[in-house]
Amino acid sequence: MEHRFRGKVAVVMGGASGIGLAIVRRLHQEGATVLAADVNLDALKDVETELGARFLGMMADVTHEAHVEAAVAAATDRFGSVDTAFNVAGASRPGYIVDLAEAEWDFTVDLCLKGVFLGMKHQARQMMRQKTGGTIVNIASLNAHVPMHGGSAYVSAKAGVEALTKNGALEFAEHGIRVNAVLPGLVQTPLTRRHFDNPDALAAFVERIPMGRPAQPEEIAAPALFLASADASYVSGASLLVDGAWAVSGYPDMRPFRGPVRWNG
Ligand SMILES: NC(=O)c1ccc[n+]([C@@H]2O[C@H](COP(=O)([O-])OP(=O)(O)OC[C@H]3O[C@@H](n4cnc5c(N)ncnc54)[C@H](O)[C@@H]3O)[C@@H](O)[C@H]2O)c1
Repeated sequence: MEHRFRGKVAVVMGGASGIGLAIVRRLHQEGATVLAADVNLDALKDVETELGARFLGMMADVTHEAHVEAAVAAATDRFGSVDTAFNVAGASRPGYIVDLAEAEWDFTVDLCLKGVFLGMKHQARQMMRQKTGGTIVNIASLNAHVPMHGGSAYVSAKAGVEALTKNGALEFAEHGIRVNAVLPGLVQTPLTRRHFDNPDALAAFVERIPMGRPAQPEEIAAPALFLASADASYVSGASLLVDGAWAVSGYPDMRPFRGPVRWNG
C-alpha cells in the first residue's frame, strides 16, 4: 500500500457508510489523518473503534452551513489543516415529475447539490487561508449524464455537482486548489440495497453494464484518491466516469447481427 497521504489532513463529508466510508478507510491506510462528518453518529462511532488514532467522527448535516463550517473548523483546530476534502453525502427521494412534492425535490437537491456547495465553500476558504493549496473531490453520479425514471431531482442535482466542480476548478486554480468529480455507475452500498434485494431489478441494471457487474465502494474510493493525490497534479475540473463502461453502452448490441468475432486466439 502506498502512503500518498502521510502527514495530510482529510475531511470526508458523508464518511460513515458506503463510498464515503471506503474513502475514509483508504485515506487512513495511506497515512492521512481523517475527519469524517455525517448525520449517522452511531456508524461514525464504529469507524472510530475500527480505525483508532488519526480518525475523528463528527455529527454534521451537510445541508446546514453552520454544521459544514464547524466540521472544517474542527479538522483545523484538532489536526492543524485541511489538505484534501471529499464531498460524498447523498441520497434521494424519488418520484415522477408530475407526482414529486416540492419538499421531496428540496430534500434531494439540498442534500446532493447545496451540500456540495457548502462543503466546497468552507473547505476552499480554509485551504486559501493555509496558502498551501489542496484538493477537493466531489462524488456526482453517472446520472449527471443519464436520466432515470423518477430521478428528476437527483439527476438535476448530480448534473449540478458536475457543473459546480468545474466552477470550483476555475475559481480556485489560482490558489493551487484542484477540484474534480467522480461519476460512479451502480455501486453496492446501503443506498442501492433495494436494487440488490430485487434480482429482476439487478439484472436490468447489469444488462446495461458491459463489465457485467456493479462496483464495490473500494472501486470508487481508489479513483477518488487518485484525483486527490499528487499523481493527478495537473488534473482539475475533470469528471471521471467510474461505471464499468456503462456510459458507452447506449448503442444497440450489434453482435447478433454482425456474427461472432473471427479471431480465435
Ligand atoms: N451507490 C451508488 O450506486 C451510487 C452511484 C452514483 C453515485 N452515488 C453517490 O455516492 C454518494 C455516496 O453514496 P453511497 O452509495 O455510499 O450511500 P450510503 O447511503 O452508503 O452513504 C451515504 C452517507 O451520507 C450520509 N448522509 C446522508 N444525508 C446526510 C446529510 N444531510 N449530512 C451528512 N451526511 C449525510 C449518510 O448517513 C451515509 O453515511 C452519494 O452522493 C450518492 O449519490 C452512489
